[in-house]
Amino acid sequence: MGRQLAMVMDLNKCLGCQTCTAACKTQWTNRDGREYMYWNNVETRPGKGYPRDWMEYGAGWSPEGALRIGELPDIPGDYGIPWDFDHAAVAGGGVLTADSEPEWGPNWDEDVGEGEYPNAYYFYLPRICNHCTKPACLFACPNKAIRKREQDGVVLVDLKRCKGAMMCIRACPYKKVYFNPSRARPAEGIPGQAEKCILCFPRIERGLPPACARQCVGRVRWVSYLDDREGPVHKLVRKWRVALPLRPDFGTQPNVYYVPPLSPPRLDEEGRPTGEPRIPPAYLKKIFGPEVETALATLKAEMEKKARGETSELVDILIAYRHQEMFKL
Ligand code: SF4
Ligand code: SF4
Ligand code: F3S
Repeated sequence: MGRQLAMVMDLNKCLGCQTCTAACKTQWTNRDGREYMYWNNVETRPGKGYPRDWMEYGAGWSPEGALRIGELPDIPGDYGIPWDFDHAAVAGGGVLTADSEPEWGPNWDEDVGEGEYPNAYYFYLPRICNHCTKPACLFACPNKAIRKREQDGVVLVDLKRCKGAMMCIRACPYKKVYFNPSRARPAEGIPGQAEKCILCFPRIERGLPPACARQCVGRVRWVSYLDDREGPVHKLVRKWRVALPLRPDFGTQPNVYYVPPLSPPRLDEEGRPTGEPRIPPAYLKKIFGPEVETALATLKAEMEKKARGETSELVDILIAYRHQEMFKL
C-alpha cells in the first residue's frame, strides 16, 4: 500500500468565513459547467448541507462490506442553481435577475442550527473529498476511470476514461464527485464527465499545501502524511486521537479528520450553566462515531492543563503558532 496524505480540520476554530471555499472556487471551479460545484464547501451543522441532505442518499459500504450505489441527487437542483445578479441595479441593493427565483442553494440554512434560545447551537463543517482509503467512487465506476495515486493516496478522475456513467456520484456517500455537463461528447454518447477535488496535487508536487488549507484564516487545517510520526496529522489522529473521520459508518475510510466541537453548557431558566453540553452527544456520535466522547474528554483535560500553566503538546499543536508548521509535505 502506498502513502497517504491526510488533512485534519479543527471545528473549534472554524469561523465559517468561506475563504477556503473561495480559494478553491477561484482556482478550480469558476467556469465551464462547474458553476454549481464546490469541491470545498462549509456547511452549518445541524443542517441539510451541500448537496441537500447528502448523508441520506444510502451510499457507501454496508456493514457487511457490500458497495451501496445510492441515489443520484438532482443536478443542480439539490446543490443550488447559481443565480445571477443584475449588476446595473446593484446600487439599489443588489437585485436578482427576473428569471432567477432561487429556492435552494449552498448555505441556504447557514447559521440556523437547532435548539431554542438560550440553548441554540450550531457549528461549521468544512468538507472536501476525503481521498478515501476504500473509495466507493473508485469501486463503482464501470470504466475504471477513477484511480488512487500510490505516492500520496490522492483520488483522481481520469478524463480520458470517464464516459459519464455517474455511478461514482451515486456511490460516494459524501457526494463529493460532481457532474460536468459541459464536458459532453454527444457523438460518443458521453453526456458529461465527473470532476472532483484533486487535493491540489499540482501544488503538492511543488511542496505547497492545498489552496483551501493555505488560505485558511482560522488556521483550521493541518496537512501531512499519516505515516509521518513527526507530522501534525499523525500526532492529532494517531497519537492524541482527538481527530476523527466524518461518518466512519459509511465505510470508505476517509482521510480527512475532524477535531470535534466542544459545546457551550446548556443554561437553565435562570440562565445558569447546567453542566450539560448544548450540542447533543448523540448527534456528535452519529457524525463522528463512538470515539467522540474520548476525544472531547482528552481535549478538555489538555486545555485545563494548559490553563494551569502546565505544558501540553496537544494544545500547542491546536493553537498553531506558526501557520507554516501546519503543513509537512
Ligand atoms: Fe471518492 Fe467520495 Fe471518498 Fe472522495 S469522498 S474518495 S469522492 S468516495
Ligand atoms: Fe479545492 Fe484543493 Fe481544497 Fe481540494 S484541496 S478542496 S482542490 S482547494
Ligand atoms: Fe466512471 Fe463516474 Fe465517469 S462512474 S465513467 S468516473 S462519471
